[in-house]
Amino acid sequence: MEIISKVADLQQKIAEVRASGGRVGLVPTMGALHEGHLQLVRRCVAENDCCVVSIFVNPTQFNDKNDLLHYPRTLEADCELLRTAGCTVAFAPSVEEMYPEEDTRVFDLGPVAEVMEGRYRPGHFNGVAQIVSKLFWAATPDRAYFGEKDFQQIAVIRSMARLIDSPVEIVDCPIVREADGLALSSRNRRLTPEQRKNAVNISATLFKSRTFAGNHTVAETLAFVTDTINAVEGLEVEYYEIVDGRTLLPVSDWGQTDYIVGCVTVYCGEVRLIDNVIYCR
Ligand code: PAF
Repeated sequence: MEIISKVADLQQKIAEVRASGGRVGLVPTMGALHEGHLQLVRRCVAENDCCVVSIFVNPTQFNDKNDLLHYPRTLEADCELLRTAGCTVAFAPSVEEMYPEEDTRVFDLGPVAEVMEGRYRPGHFNGVAQIVSKLFWAATPDRAYFGEKDFQQIAVIRSMARLIDSPVEIVDCPIVREADGLALSSRNRRLTPEQRKNAVNISATLFKSRTFAGNHTVAETLAFVTDTINAVEGLEVEYYEIVDGRTLLPVSDWGQTDYIVGCVTVYCGEVRLIDNVIYCR
């Protein structure tokens, strides 16, 4: 595996792959890799001739500077994991390399970027669109792989790709969970043992809500999830929304569409965790 830090060197490498007719896959990450990322990487390796994994903690998508400061950075361990997963290139640029000058682009991402995370993290998705568009330009992948834990992010990236006429195929991959159900996240490593114990109630409640939804209304299911999680000491729901899986707009009736997802954000102490559950697809 090569470790590359310059865009020009990455482009040179990709040109070599293309010259021999190879296909390129990209897995964008912010590092602190876990099994969730590695499943994306393994799929990317299996489906492409060259698998590029970017490791870049993107400052423009952090609306909370404290979160940016505390974001785990574990480059050496990440590269070791990538090597064993069969990755071809780890692309780990500096902030100056990705942003030689301020990125002032404002993407008109539409309603999918305005609801849920868009409301609570203003500017976040514009920052995601900025960096992912730069990565698409730098790596020119045929396919890019994203995890469904960040359900809304995938919709936003599809919207960004349409805006810039990108031919990149966006591949979404299922959430990877711990044995007890907690969705894998780089943020989990910031949980104390006590918080980790509490956090399992997030996924457990989402799973229970699928059965609950069978004989309750959308409004009752919303209340069930919010109240059950909030009843756990140390957990506080920021929002729980039940939305159309394509438009991300709230649904009020289970019969309204054939693709319905519940998206939750919960504070576990200072750590902000997200998860989602699919009611129908
Ligand atoms: O999901 C993430 O880790 C980030 O938002 C991404 C897509 C790598 C962009 O920085």
